[in-house]
Amino acid sequence: MTAHDPNETFAPSPAFAEQANVGPGEYERAAADRLAFWDEQARRLDWAADWNEVLDWSDAPVAKWFVDGRLNASYNCVDRHVEAGNGDRVAIHWVGEPTDDSRDITYSDLKDEVSRTANYLSSLGLVAGDRVAIYMPLLPETYIAMLACARLGLTHSVVFAGFSSAALRSRVDDASAKVVITADGQFRRGKPAPLKAGVDEALGDSLPSVDGPADSVQKVLVVRRTGIDVDWQDDRDVWWDEVIPGQSAEHTPEAFDSEHPLFLLYTSGTTGKPKGIVHTTGGYLTQASYTHDVVFDHKPGKDVYWCTADVGWVTGHTYGVYGPLSNGATCMVYEGTPNSPNEHRHFEIIEKYGVSIYYAAPTLIRTFMKWGREIPKAHDLSSIRLLGSVGEPINPEAWRWYREHIGGDAVPIVDTWWQTETGAIMISPLPGVAEAKPGSAMRALPGINVSVVNGDAQEVPAEEQGFLVITEPWPAMLRGIWGDMERYRDTYWSRFAEEGYYFAGDGAKFDSDGALWVLGRVDDVMNISGHRISTSEVESALVGHDSVAEAAVVGANDETTGQAIVAFVILRESAPEDTDHHQALIDELRARVSTEISPIAKPRDITIVPELPKTRSGKIMRRLLKDLAEGRDGGDTSTLSDPTIMEQIRAKGTRG
Ligand code: WTA
Repeated sequence: MTAHDPNETFAPSPAFAEQANVGPGEYERAAADRLAFWDEQARRLDWAADWNEVLDWSDAPVAKWFVDGRLNASYNCVDRHVEAGNGDRVAIHWVGEPTDDSRDITYSDLKDEVSRTANYLSSLGLVAGDRVAIYMPLLPETYIAMLACARLGLTHSVVFAGFSSAALRSRVDDASAKVVITADGQFRRGKPAPLKAGVDEALGDSLPSVDGPADSVQKVLVVRRTGIDVDWQDDRDVWWDEVIPGQSAEHTPEAFDSEHPLFLLYTSGTTGKPKGIVHTTGGYLTQASYTHDVVFDHKPGKDVYWCTADVGWVTGHTYGVYGPLSNGATCMVYEGTPNSPNEHRHFEIIEKYGVSIYYAAPTLIRTFMKWGREIPKAHDLSSIRLLGSVGEPINPEAWRWYREHIGGDAVPIVDTWWQTETGAIMISPLPGVAEAKPGSAMRALPGINVSVVNGDAQEVPAEEQGFLVITEPWPAMLRGIWGDMERYRDTYWSRFAEEGYYFAGDGAKFDSDGALWVLGRVDDVMNISGHRISTSEVESALVGHDSVAEAAVVGANDETTGQAIVAFVILRESAPEDTDHHQALIDELRARVSTEISPIAKPRDITIVPELPKTRSGKIMRRLLKDLAEGRDGGDTSTLSDPTIMEQIRAKGTRG
C-alpha cells in the first residue's frame, strides 16, 4: 500500500467545471438569503397552489415548509415530463437478475401504469392518509406502486424485502397498513426465493412476537415475478396481473398539502424498537430534486443515472425514485446482486446502457476491490462522468480505487453524507466546484447549515473531533416519528435543546482547510455495509433465545462491511455445559438473529463468555468489548466492578 498525502486534493477538470450545473457562486447566493434560496428551489416543481410562507418554525422542532402550498408528487415525477413533450424518454431501464430479462419504461408508459394502479387502489376504498406497506424486490412494479400511492396521497412504507417476516409485521402493525404489496418471490443468485410466504407468515398468528393476525390489512396485492407456488387466501390476496391491466390509464391527480405525509421509512435507533421516520411532500421533493440536480450534475435527456441502492433504504427513495424522476432522469434499475451470474454484472450494465452517473456504497466499492481491477478493466466504462458514495465513511484507499478503476482516473467523486432522517443529501462536494479530498464529505450544501460542537454546544477548533449538528431546519427534514412525537423530540432535539440544534448521532471534525470529515456514529447504532442496525436490536434477538441470559453487541471494524457485528453472550445455567454443544448453539443464535431481524444483522462473531465487563453501577462497558473485538489490548479497566473480568473473557471465551 502506498502512503498518500491526506491533504491531496482532486479538483474537477476545467471541462467538467465549465459545464457543471452550478458553480461556486451557489454558496454565496444561498447564504445571502437562505429562505429566498429555498423558495426559488421549490419553484423547480409544479405546484397547484402557491405557498404563503417558506418556513413556519413556530412549533419547533416540527417544521412546516411551503405553508399552504399544494402539489402532487406523482404528477411532478411523471405527468409533467409527458406534458413537456418527453413522454418517449426512458424513465427506467430495468434489468432483471436472469440475464435475458429486461424492460424499458418510458415516461408515457410510467404515467399509464401509475394511473392504472392508482385507479385500482382507489377502487379498494383507500383514501389519502391511509398507509400501504410495500415489500418487494427491485421491480418496475415497485416504482409504480410507490408512485401510485403518492398520487393518491397514500403514505407508503417500503420494507426492505431482505427483512424478516417479524420485522415486516412490526412495521405493518406500527403503521396500521391497510394493504401490503409484494411479489410471489424474488430472484437471488440465479434462484427464485419465496417472498409472499414471508408476508403470509407476517400477517398470520404464528410468529412468536405477535398476538393474533394483523388486523389492519385488508388486501395483499401480489406481483407474479418468479412463478413459484404460493398459498392463497381468496378473500385477501389478489394477483397484480389480474386486476391492474384492466384499469383505465386515465387518472387525474389531486393536489395535496405541502405537509401531507408522503412516506414512512423505518430505521434503527439506539433502542430496540425501529422508528417510523415521517417525510412529507413539498419540502422533501424540493430538496430531493435540487440535490439530485446539483450534486450529481444531472442532465435530463443526456445522462443515464444509476443509484444502486435498494428501494428499501432511504437512498433508494430519494435518489432511486423521487429525486431523479422529479428531474426527468433516465434511471438504471437492476434487480439482482452484483455477482450474479458473475462479478462482471454491474460493469456489463454500465457498458451496455452507457451509464454516466453511478452512485454506490463504500462496501460495494471495497467488494469490487477484492474482486480485482481486471474485472472493471474488461469493460468500456468511458461513459461514466461522475461517481457517488453514500452510507458510511469511505476510506481514502477505496476512494482512490473507485476513481482510478471505475472513473478512468478523471471523474469527480461526490461523497454524500445524509440520513434517513435528513431525507436528502446535506453534506457533499459540489462536483464542479470542490477540490475533493478522499474520505471527506467536504462541505454542507448551499442552503444547509451544520456545525461541529462539543458537549456544551461550543464549536470545536479545527482538527478536533466533536458532534455533528444541523443548526437550521431544512426542507427535507423528518417531521417526526410515526406515533411517537415524544421520542422524536427526545432523540434528535434534547441533546442541544437550548440551541435548537439537530443532533445527528455522528462524530465529525473540520480539518484546517475547512473540509468536513464524518467519523462515524457516536451512539449505539452500528453501520453494516451502509445499513443501520442498533446494538440493542441484536441484543434483544439474542436474549430471546432460551439458553441466553445476557448479551452485549458491538460494531467492530471490518475490511469489507465497514463494521461487523460482534456479540458476547452469557448462557443461562440451564444451558448445556459441554463445550461441544457450544458451536451448535452459536450457529443457532446466528440463525435466530437472521430470522428475527435480517441476514444483514447476523453477527460475524459470537463469543460465549462467563461474565460481561460492567461498571459498579451495572452498565456494560462496550468500549472494552470493542477493543477486544478489534484486537486492541484492553484500556483502563479500573472502573469495572471486577477488574479481572477482561482476562477471564479472553481466557474462557468460546468463539464461533
Ligand atoms: C452514515 C443513509 C460518513 C452516518 C443515507 C449516518 C455516512 C448514517 C455517510 C445514516 C457518508 C451516511 N460519510 N458516514 N458519506 N453517509 N453515513 O439513515 O453514520 O441509512 O448517520 O442513511 O450513515 O444512515 P441511513
